[in-house]
Amino acid sequence: MSNSLANCVVSRTFMCLRKIDLLFRSSATSLTRNALSRTSVSSRVSTGPLSRFYCSSSNMFHARRALMYVPASDKRKINKAASLCVDTLAFDLEDGVAVNQKENARRSVGSAIAGCRSVGSKAELVVRINGFESGLVDDDLDAVYSGSHDSGGGLPDAIMLPKCDTPEHLAELDLALSVHHEGTTTPVPLIVIIESPVGLLNLREVCQFGTQSARHLRLSALVFGSDDFLATLGGTRTKDAYEVLYARQSLVTHAKAFGLDAIDLVDIDYKDLDSLRVQSEEGARMGYTGKQVIHPDQVPIVQAAFSPSSTQTKWATELIEAFHRHQETGKGAFVFDGRMIDKPLLLQAENIVRLQHAISNSNS
Ligand code: COA
Ligand code: MG
Repeated sequence: MSNSLANCVVSRTFMCLRKIDLLFRSSATSLTRNALSRTSVSSRVSTGPLSRFYCSSSNMFHARRALMYVPASDKRKINKAASLCVDTLAFDLEDGVAVNQKENARRSVGSAIAGCRSVGSKAELVVRINGFESGLVDDDLDAVYSGSHDSGGGLPDAIMLPKCDTPEHLAELDLALSVHHEGTTTPVPLIVIIESPVGLLNLREVCQFGTQSARHLRLSALVFGSDDFLATLGGTRTKDAYEVLYARQSLVTHAKAFGLDAIDLVDIDYKDLDSLRVQSEEGARMGYTGKQVIHPDQVPIVQAAFSPSSTQTKWATELIEAFHRHQETGKGAFVFDGRMIDKPLLLQAENIVRLQHAISNSNS
């Protein structure tokens, strides 16, 4: 057999195996779906004015208030990003990078991560790869995993997948990651962007697959991509964003039901900081964990909106002390600040204190 024929046979066999694996995984997804319909989702969704800090995943310890995109093709912005006090930096290989700069961006991403770490940046460092419709996922992952090692770069803390429409997208990513994660048992934290009506309708299955069935990734946050969403919907963007109210509420509800962080829409009108403040505070009241930003000036406003106030921190600290005092005297429920307090309120108070610690840590 000639070399090219042998290569062709090997690659066809690989494609067949890959399809079988995907079929197996999609049937696993429907099994998971059936299993889930029999059991209730374990995360308890809290109620009341302080519920916005509720999140049962380990992300709790990293405050994802401001997630800033940095085009990975732009050295100047990469350097600037390393000096900023921002919670999450998403080095972008997708829509913030021109098509003829994709290769350049891939080559830079490992050193951008290493550069941030070398100057002591405390930000979570994420790479936004391209979506599956682009056909660029494998090239992006190769650059992130092999390229970063070759050029002395660093691996990201998490991967971000845009245009996530179906659980099959996660199954495909899980499979692609298995190549890079051979021999590693820790799954890669994954942040997905939901940016189409189909993606919104499939969100429950996406969350189930990402939190329960995937082997090489672990879903950690949902991001609302409002501009692509509106493009597919045929809607028009307004300042108060009423046209995406249902989508915003649906996304945050799914996120919290599965113990995930929820990251709100980006405000592309980046010079209007007053409207950013209003929109950020609204997102925080809706239960969002944080917000996407595109410019350094947006960061402090967004961080302030998604941080507990000093009154909330004082309330939470005192409530935790009071709870433990009452437990010692055998009381499960008691009155604090004129309200009945029991375990759910303790959980909310602990979330606030933990979030405050995470914020203090990243500022120190
Ligand atoms: N990340 C890091 N640094 C950024 C930045 C970003 N996203 N946006 C701006 N900066 C830096 C600039 O480099 C400049 O730094 P320096 O002069 O101290 O070196 C400083 O902040 C001020 O920038 P400014 O001149 O006001 O903005 P700009 O005209 O250079 O860029 C945008 C404006 C909107 C093009 C730019 O903010 C951007 O590219 N944002 C990201 C867009 C993106 O990723 N979109 C896709 C996801 S929605
Ligand atoms: Mg988008």
